[in-house]
Amino acid sequence: MTLRRAEASDVEDMVRLLKDNDLPSADIGEHLENVLVAWDDGRLIGMVGAEYSGTDALLRSLAVEKASRGQGLGIALSKAILSLMKERGVQRAALLTTTAEGFFRKQGFVAVSKDRIPEIVRSSKEFRLYCPSTAVCMIKELK
Ligand SMILES: CC(C)(COP(=O)(O)OP(=O)(O)OC[C@H]1O[C@@H](n2cnc3c(N)ncnc32)[C@H](O)[C@@H]1OP(=O)(O)O)[C@@H](O)C(=O)NCCC(=O)NCCS
Repeated sequence: MTLRRAEASDVEDMVRLLKDNDLPSADIGEHLENVLVAWDDGRLIGMVGAEYSGTDALLRSLAVEKASRGQGLGIALSKAILSLMKERGVQRAALLTTTAEGFFRKQGFVAVSKDRIPEIVRSSKEFRLYCPSTAVCMIKELK
């Protein structure tokens, strides 16, 4: 398995993986330098991305293809992006999820109430697409 930064040639596969997982895909090509992709045997098996605003960052577009789940790749991808965030001086990571609250809770994220949703989340396209109906906003302080 190879984990590396995304390139323009990955966009088509990334869009497919995001769509398969009902995650927003339209703007992923605009964030290539902040997206990590996992390839195995010629297949995109996982990805994760970040958006930055000062000391806050949005963890987005985490997806592992169904056949590769349950083997630790989801955790490896989220650890990798959190580590890149820390290198950039991010103090707080935030995300929106409709299906993986338990997954992120295991990694130290806590759900926040609607009135405490950070601005980086409020201004994201994801928030406008998901909210307010089904998504949970979660944050994690990075030390
Ligand atoms: C969430 C997701 C990335 C997890 O990927 P994965 O490779 O299967 O995750 P891991 O193998 O690293 O799982 C780590 C742990 O989290 C648990 N877990 C995985 N998905 C979970 C979920 N949706 N809810 C709760 N727990 C979950 C696993 O059971 C495992 O627990 P264990 O360590 O106690 O055995 C994957 O299910 C996925 O792509 N889901 C659809 C897209 C999505 O919801 N993305 C998040 C929004 S940004």
